[in-house]
Amino acid sequence: MTTQVKSKQRVADHGEVFTAEREVKAMCDLVADECLRIDSRFLEPACGDGNFLEEILARKLDVVTRRYKKSPYDYERNALLALGSLYGVEIQMDNVVLCRDRLFEQWSAAYLKAVKKKDRNDEVLESARYILDHNIICGDALTLHTVDEEGHDTGKPIIFAQWAFATGPMMKREDYTFEELVNGDEDQKAPENEQIQLDLSGGSTDEGEGSLVQEFPPIHYRRLKDYG
Ligand SMILES: C[S@@+](CC[C@H](N)C(=O)[O-])C[C@H]1O[C@@H](n2cnc3c(N)ncnc32)[C@H](O)[C@@H]1O
Repeated sequence: MTTQVKSKQRVADHGEVFTAEREVKAMCDLVADECLRIDSRFLEPACGDGNFLEEILARKLDVVTRRYKKSPYDYERNALLALGSLYGVEIQMDNVVLCRDRLFEQWSAAYLKAVKKKDRNDEVLESARYILDHNIICGDALTLHTVDEEGHDTGKPIIFAQWAFATGPMMKREDYTFEELVNGDEDQKAPENEQIQLDLSGGSTDEGEGSLVQEFPPIHYRRLKDYG
């Protein structure tokens, strides 16, 4: 993001005013400890081109680099987990594409910096892309439906993939609808332009529980695209 406003029309149509870097950092500082937890999930329900997600990813990847840069295997797994913990919903497709591309560039730059050339693997980059395609969704955070490239409601629910490691290099994917998280509890409702912490599985309480749509068999983290 270079400017806070792209056009008056976009402000009028979608309230599109991007948050400046200083405010993004200050707001992330309010949840500083969670931003340092590699697997702590965040959802930004009106994510624009990803200002908050980028800052949170930067903080998480710093931790991954500090802890795991000596082991390419551990770095790859944990850096993917960090990426997979970030979710965004955005109603304008051009912003969705910008957000995915931006986070991918950021993730791959960190990977290329942390892992020596001889240890690098192109498939892990494809897995990073795959995660972003499933975590940054073109949708309406009010109807909780996906939206097509022209901005029309598809009538289909927003579904998020939850990523976690099973054993060794095998990664698990479980898909959840997001509707129950938002509608299940008045206190959980996400005001526009506010990031919320996301617990798809509900954790130890029922609060924030999403509804499981599909559970996939574990797959090697470098071959996530085989999920199709
Ligand atoms: C105020 S901007 C904030 C963007 C970003 N969160 C930031 O702070 O830089 C609001 C964004 O929400 C998007 N938006 C507006 N209504 C939405 C809706 N119902 N569902 C999802 N996104 C929406 C707009 O396209 C715009 O990119």
